[in-house]
Amino acid sequence: MQDKQVYIFDTTLRDGEQVPGCKLNTLEKVDLALKLEDLGVDIIEAGFPISSPGDYESVNMISKTIKNATVCGLTRAVQKDIEVAAQALKYAKRPRIHTGIGTSDYHIKGKFNSNREDILLRAIQCVKWARNFTDDVEFYAEDAGRTDIEYLARVIEAVIKAGASTVNIPDTTGYCLPNQYGEKIAYLKNNVPNIDRAIISCHCHNDLGLATANAIAGIINGAQQIECTINGLGERAGNTSLEEVVMIIKQHRELGYYTNIKTQQLNPLSRLVSDTMRMPVQPNKAIVGSNAFSHSSGIHQDGFLKDATTYETINPEDVGAESSKNVLTARSGRSALAYRFQKLGFIFTRNDIDSLYESFLQLADKKKEVDEEDLQKLAQQYHPEMLEVI
Ligand code: KIV
Ligand code: ZN
Repeated sequence: MQDKQVYIFDTTLRDGEQVPGCKLNTLEKVDLALKLEDLGVDIIEAGFPISSPGDYESVNMISKTIKNATVCGLTRAVQKDIEVAAQALKYAKRPRIHTGIGTSDYHIKGKFNSNREDILLRAIQCVKWARNFTDDVEFYAEDAGRTDIEYLARVIEAVIKAGASTVNIPDTTGYCLPNQYGEKIAYLKNNVPNIDRAIISCHCHNDLGLATANAIAGIINGAQQIECTINGLGERAGNTSLEEVVMIIKQHRELGYYTNIKTQQLNPLSRLVSDTMRMPVQPNKAIVGSNAFSHSSGIHQDGFLKDATTYETINPEDVGAESSKNVLTARSGRSALAYRFQKLGFIFTRNDIDSLYESFLQLADKKKEVDEEDLQKLAQQYHPEMLEVI
């Protein structure tokens, strides 16, 4: 069977930009939108046009600039929101309106002081309003993760009938376990009679660290679009991270999916987003963290130096990262020490390395990392007349 495409819906400029301190101006947003298009994302959620004049301007400018990707604007289930979004998206080659409403009882009662029947009607109505402006309407059932599944199925069937071509099933609070989120998607696939007329989208938050696992569970159970952000940015603990889902799909070919992402651009774009949004990436972040391809313990370094595949399943070049590093710490072994000396041009015998290793450990116990300068000094202090410098 042919591999199936998973559409990548990037919301770095909307959900990602909601993070306190990550606010971008219009030029920064347009620049990042161009880079996202170049990366190969299928849909760029450019902003929430009614939220501020600045965001309206950004969505408008991105709509004028982007040539291939779909440009999407977020709205509430409010007529004015939808009209403003349509206006902001006026120049887009492929405009999408992303509208919706909370469907869990927490939202229906706590946020809207309403009832399920009224929310169902509002859901249908907002899709109809949006369809007056574009054929490409995505509906989100906010807090679908905690929505009663039979009611969710009714809402989804009704919004597809009203004209939604994508239905977003957000785990807004990041509450679901992967099997629960996967079962939700499977239930909709099996119980919504018109589900084949729409693409199911996963929008998962990371409050329990499960956003990536949940999105993949959604895909395995029949969803075909993932909403995600560079570096996993987003409200609270963030969203599904784009680089993680893309690399999971690429590494696990047996799943039978592909994306159009040019993975060599992942690390450069991660750094650009981090710099522009002033939001550092944690060193141990999968794919794009500074330690993602560093080896520091003696056992790992020894194996890695013999054959890189012993401790790496991803080639750093495939994700645009610098080549793998052997970091010298007090946990490093003799092989890594000899290798690093050799890279600096110092060739030592096995006995030399045994002696040097003692001095190295004394230093490494005092310092977090032994660097090139330290190695030069260690080498100079050790029988300098016996050194063979190549
Ligand atoms: O998390 C969420 O539910 C959202 C929706 C607005 C799509 O961001
Ligand atoms: Zn969200």
